[in-house]
Order: sequence, then structure tokens, then C-alpha cells
Amino acid sequence: MEIIKDIALMRTRCRERKLKGDKIGFVPTMGALHKGHLSLIKRAREDCDFTVVSIFVNPTQFGPEEDFKRYPRNLSEDLRLCEEEGVDVVFAPLKESMYPDGFSTWVEVKGMLTETLEGTFRPGHFKGVTTVLTKLFNIVLPDYSYFGEKDYQQAMVVKKMVQELNIDTEIILLPTVRERDGLACSSRNSYLSPEERKKAAVLYNSLLKAKQEVERGEKDPSIITSLIRHLIEKEGSFKIDYVAVVNPDTLEPVDRIRGKTLITIAAWIGGTRLIDNILI
Ligand code: PAJ
Repeated sequence: MEIIKDIALMRTRCRERKLKGDKIGFVPTMGALHKGHLSLIKRAREDCDFTVVSIFVNPTQFGPEEDFKRYPRNLSEDLRLCEEEGVDVVFAPLKESMYPDGFSTWVEVKGMLTETLEGTFRPGHFKGVTTVLTKLFNIVLPDYSYFGEKDYQQAMVVKKMVQELNIDTEIILLPTVRERDGLACSSRNSYLSPEERKKAAVLYNSLLKAKQEVERGEKDPSIITSLIRHLIEKEGSFKIDYVAVVNPDTLEPVDRIRGKTLITIAAWIGGTRLIDNILI
């Protein structure tokens, strides 16, 4: 496995492989790798000839009050995991080379997709994500790029950007990997105290209960959101940002549940913000 920090060298490696006709698979991450990331890497390895994982805690997608400084960083363990998974290259550029002094170019998807849900609570977040991913796609030239359903809205935003900017990569969306009690794997789970960690399982459990209610015939989204809010609030110590029942293609709220629907939540437990969703 090669570890590359230099942008020009990363570009050269990928061009060489492309010229040989190899399919490049790309898994962009911010490191602190867990089973969710590894599921994307495994799939890239199956599909492609050359697998690139990027590890870059992207400062532009964090708000000024957010956790950029304390975001978990563990490069040596991440490298060990990537090696074990048979990754070909880990691309870990420096902040200064991705965003040199005077950097002033931004890629932004406008409209409902970025303004709703996470966009409401994390203004500017998606602009940081789409800007860094455009840079990474331009460097790695991936045939296939792998994303997790855990960040469903992010994947929708990225799909739209890739389509509208004619970026030549196919976005593959893979299911959320969970801990045994249902909590979605996340680098931020490491912030949780043991007590918070136990309580955090209520997020997915409330989504499962909501799904059951819909399967039993409940069509009213406000009943479903109230049920979820009630279950989470009963646990104590949560502050809910949103609970929403939306159309999975447009992320617009639905007024009746019919056909494919996404239920999505974001909530704080102590100082940690967690998100989860379920497709029904
Ligand atoms: P990060 O949070 O490290 O996530 C990297 C990828 O792993 C994303 O596609 C995310 O959806 C996926 N992922 C995270 N948890 C998962 C889980 N439990 N199951 C399955 N997939 C999971 O998302 C980012 O980084 C950044 O915004 C990035 C796209 C790298 C841009 O900076």
C-alpha cells in the first residue's frame, strides 16, 4: 500500500492506472475509520482494479462552532486498517496543500437539497463537502465513488453535483453499518460517555418502531414524527434538531406516507450531534 500526501503524485498514480485501463474505485473519508468505512472499501475492492481511500478532515465543511479541532484523528490505525483491507493508495493531503493561502473557489449545490435538514442546522456544510469532493474527484479521477446511506442527504447532494457538473464518476450508495444495538457506526461515537453510548441506541430503535407503525398502516407523517420524538425524549438528555418524513428523491416533507419514504433524524446527546435515517 502506498501512502501519498502530494497532490501531483496522487494525480500521476491515478493517470497511470487509467491509461492501463484499470477501473479506479474511490472512498473519500475523514479518517477515524470504522466498520461503515470498511464496508465501502470492501465493495470498492470487489468492483475495481485500483482502490484509493482519502483521509482528510476537511476544515471547510465544519462550522465555526463545530468540532473540527477535536474531530478524532488516528492516521496510524487508519493506515493499518486500509492495509488489511488491501487498499492500493491512501491519499492523505495536508490542509495547506488542499487550501493554500488565498484559496477562493467554491462549488455549491443550491436549492432545497442543501437548504433543508442538515443544511438548516449546518449552514455552509454542504458547500465545504462539494468543494472538497470536486477537488478529490479531479485528483483521483475515479470510475466509481462509494458513499454511505448514513449520510443520505450528503449522497443526494453529491449525486446532483456530479450529474450537473458532468463529473465522470458513478456514485455508489451503500447501506448503513450499525453496532450490535443498532447505533449507526460513526467516528463521532467516540465522543460518547458510556452512559450516552447506551442511550444513543434509541435513535435507531425509534426509527424501527416508526417503520413498524407505517407497515401497520399509519400514513400520517406527524403521528410518526411525534412517536419518534416521544421515544427519544423519554430517554432524557437528548436535544432534537429535527425528525422528518421526506421524499427520498427531493428531501421534501411528505403530507402522507405512500411509496418510498425516508425518515431522518438529527439529535444532540450531551456535546455530540448524531444523525440517522431509515428508508421505508
Ligand atoms: P466520513 O464521515 O468519514 O464518511 C466517509 C463515508 O463513509 C461517507 O460516504 C459516509 O456516508 C460513510 N459512512 C459513515 N458512517 C457509515 C456507516 N455507519 N455505514 C456506512 N457508511 C458510512 O462523509 C464524510 O466523511 C465527508 O463529508 C467526506 C465525504 C469525506 C467529504 O469530506
